[in-house]
Amino acid sequence: MTAYTEQDVEDFFDQTLPHYLGFWDSTGVLHTGIFAGPDDTDYRAAADRTSATLADAAGIDSASSVLDVGCGCGNFVGYLAARTGCRAQGLDLSEERVKFASEHFTGVSFRHGSATAMPYQDATFSHVVSQDALFLVPDKPRSHTEIWRVLRPGGSFAFSDFLQPTTQIGEQARKHVYDRVRWSSGYSLDGYQDALRAAGFEIVSVRDLNDHIAQTYRVLRQTARDRAGATADTAARDWMLAFAESCEQIQAAIERGEFGWGMFVARKPA
Ligand SMILES: C[S@@+](CC[C@H](N)C(=O)[O-])C[C@H]1O[C@@H](n2cnc3c(N)ncnc32)[C@H](O)[C@@H]1O
Repeated sequence: MTAYTEQDVEDFFDQTLPHYLGFWDSTGVLHTGIFAGPDDTDYRAAADRTSATLADAAGIDSASSVLDVGCGCGNFVGYLAARTGCRAQGLDLSEERVKFASEHFTGVSFRHGSATAMPYQDATFSHVVSQDALFLVPDKPRSHTEIWRVLRPGGSFAFSDFLQPTTQIGEQARKHVYDRVRWSSGYSLDGYQDALRAAGFEIVSVRDLNDHIAQTYRVLRQTARDRAGATADTAARDWMLAFAESCEQIQAAIERGEFGWGMFVARKPA
């Protein structure tokens, strides 16, 4: 296992922004979709369904003050602000993504920083949310302590995240799932709950969503192949083809139980 640093992760997400905008989603969405059925191939609708599902699970309304940790290009927190009128802020480790978010969403404030040292005062937020970001944090307990700190008593922590269901990770999964995005290690569904409880959270709900992550990579593999065939930029084409090749290995890793996805709601006791 390679132990990636926050700097490794930051560099990866800064450098790959144009690649991801080129085929994954041109508005910067970069999270797993919840699909309507096995034949559904509409990634963007599925990704928006994930945001709606998480917003409902979190119980965010116009009175909420929300922080999205690992907000990327800002879509989820922008959506929450538009849907509910809540006060919304986004934090991300990638300066490039924060810049993109700040240019595309008004009424939301974005900051460059890490989940492990958040630039907010204690008890600032009623809700902390996150989509597919916290798995990348090398010191996960530290990020949980920080999320706890910035939440008000009674506040909710609602997020989706990638899971490492087993400690036995084979060479192909290590290469195509973990090292590909500078991910060192993660929690199983049960291990995640233990870690949240250790940080003082009460678990409100947990969902295993493996079927949807498999479908996300099935759909995006095809999109990457189609876009690779249509672009004249050879570097972009090579990157998309490498991604498409990784998708086959990602499917296999999910089937072998080496990669998973879950959604959690936890509460800081009042
Ligand atoms: C897969 S992307 C998801 C982005 C966004 N949540 C979305 O739904 O489109 C993961 C994001 O986590 C951010 N990230 C990784 N480590 C982080 C950390 N320690 N603190 C804050 N953000 C981090 C990355 O820069 C990247 O933007």
